[in-house]
Amino acid sequence: PANGALSGRHVLVTAGPTWEPIDPVRYIANRSSGKQGFAIAAAAAAAGARVTLVAGPVHLPTPPGVDRVDVESAQQMADAVKQALPADIGVMVAAVADWRTISVAKDKLKKRGSAPPALLLTENPDILASVAARPDRPPLLIGFAAETEDVIRYAKEKRKRKGADWIIANDVSGDVMGGDVNAVHIVRGDDVISLPEMPKEEVARLLVERFADALPRH
Ligand code: C5P
Repeated sequence: PANGALSGRHVLVTAGPTWEPIDPVRYIANRSSGKQGFAIAAAAAAAGARVTLVAGPVHLPTPPGVDRVDVESAQQMADAVKQALPADIGVMVAAVADWRTISVAKDKLKKRGSAPPALLLTENPDILASVAARPDRPPLLIGFAAETEDVIRYAKEKRKRKGADWIIANDVSGDVMGGDVNAVHIVRGDDVISLPEMPKEEVARLLVERFADALPRH
């Protein structure tokens, strides 16, 4: 993006997986590496934005010029996102766990020779949808959709259901999760722009360019 295309703007990014604790030593997680979200945060900072990156547990360095808030669970991520608002652009890239256990055992669960414990799950808050419903909703709110089939159709549905302006859809049936390349579709209503496969840093630069162009002038 042109140098300074996002100067004076606040960009809020979520990235990485969430960990949903079972007991003091165990958790439910997913394969998100955080690479695409971190690359978007880096590209936004390089374009001059103030960037808040709410990061789930990942092993990635903080990009230069980015304010990072580390969280573990979806509930912690939701709280950190609320704290970080208002923002000009919200980019929810995190692979938030859909479910958490209804309660977290205080002590480590024991093998008892008989039946394994049943994990009772409850739904996590949808961070993207709840940000979309807030009075201080960012004027440009972007969600991601990782699917293994019918990516564009699901992305269109998701965009409406969650109240996002755009959904960035990608096919994760290959090794996108954890990998270094990505091929995305930018779903803005019925208008869909498909980008070829490229490094996640390059995807980030192109997306940030489009975010900057879509913002109302200030
Ligand atoms: O429904 P699904 O998880 O596929 O939606 C993905 C999009 O919604 C991503 O932008 C993700 O960051 C966001 N999301 C969220 N909170 C959740 C679940 C998903 O913000 N609990």
